[in-house]
Amino acid sequence: MNILVVGGGGREHAIITALSKSPRVDMIYAAPGNGGISKLAECFPVKATDIDGMVELAKKLKPDYVFVAPDDPLVLGMVDRLNDEGFKTFGPRANAAVLEGSKVFSKALMKKYGIPTAAYETFTDADKAIAYIKEQNSYPAVIKCDGLALGKGVIIAKDFAEAEAAVKSMLLDGKFGKSGSEIVVEEFMTGPEVTVLAFTDGKTVKPMISSMDHKRALDNDEGLNTGGMGTIAPNPKYTEAFKKECEEKIFKPTIAAMRDEGRPFKGCLYFGLMLTPNGAKVVEYNCRFGDPEAQVVLPLLETDIVDIMDAIWEERLDGLDIKWSGKSCACVVMASGGYPEKYETGKAISGLDENGQSDKAYIYHAGTKIEDGKFLTAGGRVLGITAVGDDLRSALDKAYAAVDTVSFEKAHYRKDIGRRALDG
Ligand code: AMP
Ligand code: GLY
Repeated sequence: MNILVVGGGGREHAIITALSKSPRVDMIYAAPGNGGISKLAECFPVKATDIDGMVELAKKLKPDYVFVAPDDPLVLGMVDRLNDEGFKTFGPRANAAVLEGSKVFSKALMKKYGIPTAAYETFTDADKAIAYIKEQNSYPAVIKCDGLALGKGVIIAKDFAEAEAAVKSMLLDGKFGKSGSEIVVEEFMTGPEVTVLAFTDGKTVKPMISSMDHKRALDNDEGLNTGGMGTIAPNPKYTEAFKKECEEKIFKPTIAAMRDEGRPFKGCLYFGLMLTPNGAKVVEYNCRFGDPEAQVVLPLLETDIVDIMDAIWEERLDGLDIKWSGKSCACVVMASGGYPEKYETGKAISGLDENGQSDKAYIYHAGTKIEDGKFLTAGGRVLGITAVGDDLRSALDKAYAAVDTVSFEKAHYRKDIGRRALDG
């Protein structure tokens, strides 16, 4: 089989690594890919959001599957277009990707079907939103843009002044463009966060191993929100009891709700959950693998990922037994100093072999390119240094030992990935 993977970050490198282990895969193509990915896949300079360009590329390469990994092309309907042209795909169609593309949609779906989530109201009018926040008089207040905003469209306001400023920045100043023309104001929840990625064919849902992201830029969960600075899997906070509760009250009802709405979801559905004192609740849905969650979950997958893709495409996931190793995995993201704000790129990376790898850990490339045979930084998140161990402690020790051997100017990484999980 030949497979085209859309995207060019660490998540795509993890997906491509999983594909490369399948005896069923001959050639992997990536668009746009990155420096590290180019060692496993032939890369083409087509942007992940360029739907026409990707359809043209698929017509040229004639892949057996197109794996659409990032959110924006899914929300824009890349899968629909590829299916119309006769290509098999992995990823939801636009009418199901809306689960991530519109928080107003996903909150209304959860309300309609009784899926536990934070209480909320939606607004397009700033005065009404501000009046509601005043009336609730409960802080922190959570204010979210309806649409995709690169993870920046969520503001946790600690007092009225911050909440008012957030509402104004979205609804009046258009800081987030169309994504912020409608907003959700919701109740602040507390408790550990868990990510559960799940394979689904629209009828059956098969949750993967749980994981924990570390979204803030700095140690002790300080600093700005990022795309994710590191992950561990499995997540020890996700007990057997929570697992059962989530399957019955969240995972199965969500898949059934989407089907009842005429929006069957096929692909990987990301459940962002909070284990609150009142039970597990949905923080958000994403219509794709998480980044960097994929980097710690996929190394634990023992079933051939192409067999899973087939089962999803043919809607027979209920008959497939998906196997996981009982090990743990940890990923430490090395980012460019200054990320998620301003940062420099083009820095030489030392400590990698000619394949961009290391014998100490697996190196997922997020933002790298190759120039004159050398790996250079090319993005905010640069590398995801990833290791598998018999337990979380050994996976973390291995990953951090490898981090010590890789460097580039102004590299920044968190030193406390997994600490909360280990401390219990
Ligand atoms: P989201 O993009 O919706 O996942 O939000 C980003 C992050 O903001 C989440 O991972 C949570 O840490 C936090 N967050 C979002 N919604 C809430 C909420 N209702 N209560 C507390 N924290 C939240
Ligand atoms: N790591 C969070 C996300 O992929 O959205």
